[in-house]
Amino acid sequence: MRVLSGIQPSGQLHLGNYFGSIKPNLEYVGKGESFFFIADLHALTTMRDPKELKRIRFETALDYLACGFDPKKATIYEQSIVPEHTQLMWILSCIAPMGLLERAVSYKEKVENGIDATVGLFNYPVLMAADILLYDANIVPVGRDQKQHVEIARDLAQKFNNVYGDVLIIPEPEIRPEVAVVLGTDGQKMSKSYGNTIPLFGSEQEIKKAITGIVTDSVGANAPKDPDKCTVYQIHKLFLGEKESKKLADLYRGGITYGDAKTKLFETSMDVFGPMREKRAELEKKKDYILEVLQEGAKKACCIAQSTMERVWRATGLR
Ligand code: ADP
Ligand code: TRP
Repeated sequence: MRVLSGIQPSGQLHLGNYFGSIKPNLEYVGKGESFFFIADLHALTTMRDPKELKRIRFETALDYLACGFDPKKATIYEQSIVPEHTQLMWILSCIAPMGLLERAVSYKEKVENGIDATVGLFNYPVLMAADILLYDANIVPVGRDQKQHVEIARDLAQKFNNVYGDVLIIPEPEIRPEVAVVLGTDGQKMSKSYGNTIPLFGSEQEIKKAITGIVTDSVGANAPKDPDKCTVYQIHKLFLGEKESKKLADLYRGGITYGDAKTKLFETSMDVFGPMREKRAELEKKKDYILEVLQEGAKKACCIAQSTMERVWRATGLR
């Protein structure tokens, strides 16, 4: 069983990325083959500053390792280092119906939010399909925002197989209901592009500021609060098991102040991410090690990507 996921290096990693994508993938490490990549080609659809892209690309590798990926058990690599991603993307583009891509909501949403309407942005889901199909991935852990993209990957694999025979593996998205949409500080979906994130590895001050800024309603300080309608609780719950969540919900119903509720959330997040934050600080001093991990990862990834492309070249008549 192969599990694959990727994150664009377009900003600081946040709780949505961690709970929606990283944690579910981490849970497979050791049980199946885990692949985690830095989607730097995807980031080019929105980033225009080369220095910034280069910096965040490296930071994202640090983040992955700090979150606990063991490079001996998981493969970590940068998308743009493996040329087969764009090669397979072209082949898939030639069978991808325009209508399928025109129905992709993320393109429309991004353009509405001011992102340049480029051909690359339009083709984004085809590149994502190539990312997944190249590695014969069975499971793709993502947040709900990426569901349609994984479905497009499935459609394209099926279409390819219908034309050329059984060549590509059909992937399954894994979207855990409890983390499908992690809320941001404004109560909307947490996203780098909405400026509503709680960063994983920001300074304590930054994290405190983000948590303090979570929007709440205006019920009296000690009045009972409905945990199901409270963003502070919804975020806090991500860190807790069922029993602890229930206990916390009772505190809300019992009238805990939002100030105290936010302090509790800050403390929990520091407890949970503390060890990762320390690990990250250590890793920051080991630049050569990070580069080595990425190089090794690229080698493994290239090997698999080349063998899939060999099948694709032959099936299509290009070899
Ligand atoms: P962003 O929206 O911040 O740019 P990405 O698009 O890079 O984040 O997302 C990387 C991964 O993290 C994807 O699998 C995505 O589904 C997941 N993810 C991002 N935000 C959330 C969220 N708010 N809730 C759940 N999963 C999320
Ligand atoms: N599009 C994903 C996002 O923005 C990132 C991504 C690119 C990805 N290729 C992928 C995720 C392949 C999973 C599998 O969140």
